[in-house]
Amino acid sequence: MTSETDKPANPCVIVIFGAAGDLTKRLLLPALYNLARSNLLPKEFAIVGVARAQISNEDFRTKLSQDIQEFATVPVDTQLWQWFRERLYYLAGDFQDPNTYSQLQDLLAQVNTEHSTQGNYLYYLAVAPNFFSDIIWQLGSVGLTKEENGHWRRVIIEKPFGHDLESARNLNKNISSTLQESQIYRIDHYLGKETVQNILIFRFGNGLFEPIWNYRYIDHVQITVAETVGVEGRGGFYEGAGAVRDMMQNHLFQLLAMVAMEPPISFEADAVRDEKSKLLKAVQPFTPEEVLTNTVRGQYGEGTVNDKQLPAYRQEPRVAADSVTETFAALKLTIDNWRWADVPFYLRTGKRLTERMTEIAIQFKRVPSLLFRQTSVDSLTPNFLVIRIQPNEGISLQFGAKIPGPSVRMGGVQMDFAYKDYFGTTPSTGYETLIYDCMIGDATLFQRADNVELGWSVVTPILDVWKALPPRNFPNYAVGSWGPQGAEDMLKRDGRQWRTNL
Ligand code: BG6
Repeated sequence: MTSETDKPANPCVIVIFGAAGDLTKRLLLPALYNLARSNLLPKEFAIVGVARAQISNEDFRTKLSQDIQEFATVPVDTQLWQWFRERLYYLAGDFQDPNTYSQLQDLLAQVNTEHSTQGNYLYYLAVAPNFFSDIIWQLGSVGLTKEENGHWRRVIIEKPFGHDLESARNLNKNISSTLQESQIYRIDHYLGKETVQNILIFRFGNGLFEPIWNYRYIDHVQITVAETVGVEGRGGFYEGAGAVRDMMQNHLFQLLAMVAMEPPISFEADAVRDEKSKLLKAVQPFTPEEVLTNTVRGQYGEGTVNDKQLPAYRQEPRVAADSVTETFAALKLTIDNWRWADVPFYLRTGKRLTERMTEIAIQFKRVPSLLFRQTSVDSLTPNFLVIRIQPNEGISLQFGAKIPGPSVRMGGVQMDFAYKDYFGTTPSTGYETLIYDCMIGDATLFQRADNVELGWSVVTPILDVWKALPPRNFPNYAVGSWGPQGAEDMLKRDGRQWRTNL
């Protein structure tokens, strides 16, 4: 994570594999441009794009000049873009062909001399996961991953990292035969969000909250990542993934770890990642019976939103007409440690829900007895601390107050902090911090091998049971709803409710 003393990163070349893809034009390029605007890119800097398309260097520069106009988060400054454009290079090649890598070696040698980048290379794998191992192995075989004479070589790996526990372990094993763990940066873009980084500051930078952050005061925690979008033409990918693999194992578990982990001994990468691993290790694994009671899956059926008829998941392009892929998942997790004894964590995520909203809601315990005759304990508004990750970023605290008037009656009120009121809005892609951190060698916001594997070990038993018992009630929620009834029932059985339905 960057600090007030931010200064330009080390000289380096960023090599983007998959440079012709969506991620590059929509997020990586605008993020790099924003870093240049904030003077966080070094003067000695260049980008080499690698992709299959047979286009020239000049074509690549022209294409990116058009892309930046379309996707930049701020108006593009002509002079700055010119500086940027002169540092763009392109190599056409197949990721599996050894020739690509010998050509890359030559091109990097040339770019390195032209831009004095001191042999520091950052490889960004914005490619399909089946290429991860191969690309890293090929880079290694031509000596492009070797760190010597004071230069560094790092690799950012996009998600999904594995498909289940076994494949994640294999991938870790494969890439660690070429790279040291310190060279590997497994990205989870949720950790690039300011509001997610702020969870640690909120918890550990204030004396107020940590003393009550435990089973004595907290009743339960709800983590919701709700999306209104469907699969957006990604049916081919999503069919083999589903909500648990696509969102739960990575993004929601990162939120869980940030909110529930113990204080690290420092903000050093390994100190933070040790605590995350400890937390994930403490998540109680599900028995097959528990999978039936403590998990809910769903798939959206057609429905109408704002007078617009939207198709069911099964009608989306490249989705099977009898697909059993879940587009919604809810879990009730328990964490087997001192702090969280008997405090359930309810996690849910889904596509095509009522609204786009990511939040962590911490519900505090009710008062032990009630002094005000006019209000029954049950009708008290619970004390919620809500960390709003997106949109409408902020934090609010809900508590009870006396409703003005001669009789003593209580009603729920809210104290609210909104990012935009204090800090304005800084348009960003969310990738700026992550890329910059990798360039300065700070891995705090990246996942270590064990973090990823632990996430998979929690969800793999669920996926196994779900696979063995295909759902018979899909589709089971309508577009524009809050998901299947089962998710409501899971909380109702515990005498609780999702906050959005209070
Ligand atoms: C991605 C998932 O990792 O995260 C998508 O693959 C999902 O399916 C996206 O839509 C959500 O990200 P954000 O930042 O919009 O919440």
